[in-house]
Formats: sequence, structure tokens, C-alpha cells
Amino acid sequence: METATVNPKTSISSATSEAPLTPEHIMKIGMGFWASKVLLTAVEFELFTRFAAQGPMTAAQVRKSLGLHCSERNVLDFLDALASLGFLHRQGLLAAAKYDNGPETAFFLDKKKPAYIGGILEMANSRLYGIWANLANAMRTGKQQNEAVEGEDFFAKLYSDQARLREFARAMSGVQMGAFTTFVRSFDFSKAKTLLDLGGSDARLSLMVAKQHPHMTCISFDLPPVHPIAHASIVQSGLGHRVTAAAGDFFTDTLPKADVITMGNILHGWSEEKKIALMRKAYDALPPGGAFVVLETIIDDDRRQSTFGFLMSLNMLMETQDGFNFTLNDFKGWAETAGFKRVELIPPAGPNSAAVAYK
Ligand SMILES: C[S@@+](CC[C@H](N)C(=O)[O-])C[C@H]1O[C@@H](n2cnc3c(N)ncnc32)[C@H](O)[C@@H]1O
Repeated sequence: METATVNPKTSISSATSEAPLTPEHIMKIGMGFWASKVLLTAVEFELFTRFAAQGPMTAAQVRKSLGLHCSERNVLDFLDALASLGFLHRQGLLAAAKYDNGPETAFFLDKKKPAYIGGILEMANSRLYGIWANLANAMRTGKQQNEAVEGEDFFAKLYSDQARLREFARAMSGVQMGAFTTFVRSFDFSKAKTLLDLGGSDARLSLMVAKQHPHMTCISFDLPPVHPIAHASIVQSGLGHRVTAAAGDFFTDTLPKADVITMGNILHGWSEEKKIALMRKAYDALPPGGAFVVLETIIDDDRRQSTFGFLMSLNMLMETQDGFNFTLNDFKGWAETAGFKRVELIPPAGPNSAAVAYK
């Protein structure tokens, strides 16, 4: 075999550092949907839940258990892809290999565990994957790309299908677990007695606050179709004496008064005008010194770091058309307009932070 000597002067190198350029990063991101779809398909198959229940399995056992009709070789490729991405643990090789959950998938992707975050991945697979195929169209037209046609109320459309409503509620809880946990532990609730969570979905945040802070009483406020879901999770939690589900519209109804008002992944769904309108309503429902807390992906002020924030913001274009994610500086400006005295940031847990405005 011939070996070639590379002349450093003629090899591909970066203009600034002489470090050799490789297309690796471009290919990794450009073809990233392959890896993403393998994980999402494993979640769709409830593969991690099966491993948790049944223990290690060979490819042949997985094929039988999932009722697959592709070849055993295809199943081996699928499982080895998951193992090489760090989602499965493998012992042995090919037909003799036994596969099992890795520590993260065992903890976060077993449907039977309370820490299950697969709801967002289930929705990513069934809705967002298809919606994101239309990013270019969204950018060419400036129009949303989901189930709702232009001008139609997104939530009314989404919630017209019970299965989709439940999937959406499960997805929301999954994506916010880290941010909710950090907020519940690090926010100072000592001077507060009441919390109102606007757009509270399945009441997850209210229940977490009530559990961690026994002096707190919470209301989870959401649109009427969501009420039965919130009510059911409150009854199941046994915290019904301190957590209530309220049905209403945060744009048109008078809000219940509370010492702390939270909004998780709400503001990013609306135009700047509607964001400020919601912040004014929260301001009016708070006592002096009360806190308005926004739990979502806050983009860094210099707009350099927050890749997830930019992607989430594009997701809002596809889902709501007018919605967008924002920086802490943006939030400060709107808080000032709404009358709040000062703003602080509770550092991020995963991609999401809590921005707090005090009245
Ligand atoms: C993106 S989800 C966020 C759910 C939850 N707060 C979280 O952080 O995961 C938005 C929520 O706002 C609710 N919502 C939308 N429009 C609303 C309105 N006009 N009044 C009350 N709730 C509304 C939706 O039903 C949904 O539960």
C-alpha cells in the first residue's frame, strides 16, 4: 500500500489557526435527524420501559417482544446505534449480545417511573418531527406550520382531539421537570402563602411547590379542556386540600390574587404585545413585593450561547406564528413597562431558567 505525505502548506486548514478543518461537525448536525429518529422510535416502541420490566434481552428477543418484521440484522443495527449513542448497555456481540438500559434511559425513559420525561419525545415524534419538515416554508411565509390553519386558535385546534390534548400535557411536564425542580428548591417561598400557576397544564408545578413547601396553597389555572387532567393529577397526589385546578382564560378572565404568579413556557408563545398584556395582568393580581416568575428558555443577552433558545423560538414560529423566545434584557424592559420594580434570574437548570420580576 502506498502512503502519501501531506504537505502542511497545501492541506485544508483554517484561515486563523492552521488547525486542520474537518467536516465532522457539519455532518454530525446535518445528519443529526438519523440519531434523533432512532431515539424517538425507541421511545415510541417503549423499548426502555420494556428493558426496565424484562431485564437484558438479545436482538432476537427484542424483535419478538416488539413484534417487528424487519430482519434480525436490522434490529442489531438499531440496538447497536442506541448503544453507541450511550442509551443502551451491551454485553457480547451480534446474536449473542444482551442489551439493557443505560443509567439515564433507565431513570428518565422508563414510563413506569415518576422521572419519565418521554412525553416530550413522544410529541416530538408524533407532531414536531413532521412540523419541522416545514421550517423553510415557515420562514418563506412567516406562517405557523402545525394542525391549526392561519387565524385558528392553536390550543382550540390541538385540544379538539382528546389523545392529542393528553399527549401535549404529558409533553409539557417532561420538558419542564429540571426547571421546576430547581425553582421549587431555590426560590424563597418563606414570605409567600399563595401561588397561581397560569397555563398550569396538569398542575405539575403547583403540586411540586405544595409538596416541598407545606405552608403554600396553589391554584393551577388553565383552559377548560385541561381542567379534568389537572383535577385528576391533584386527586391522585392527595394534595387536594392545598392545590386547586381553576378553568379559565388568562387573557379575558380576572385572575385570582396570589403572592407568587408563575408562567411556565407561556410568554414565548405570544407576540410582544400579548406578552406585555399578560405581564400587566399578573402585576395587577400580585400584592406589593409579590413575584412574577417566568420559567422558560431565556436567551443569553449577547445571543451567542443559547442554541436551544433559538431553536425553541423557531419552534414557536411553527406552532404559534407570533411567539418567540427572549433575553433577560427583553424581559427587564417589558417588566418595567408593566410596572415591576426589579428583575432577577434564577440560573438555568438544563436549558430553562426562571426570570423573576418583583412588584
Ligand atoms: C406550552 S404549555 C405550558 C404548560 C406548563 N405551564 C409548562 O410549563 O409545562 C401552555 C399552556 O398554556 C395554556 N393556555 C394557553 N392559552 C391559555 C389561555 N388563554 N388561558 C389559560 N391557559 C392557556 C395551555 O392550555 C397549556 O397548558
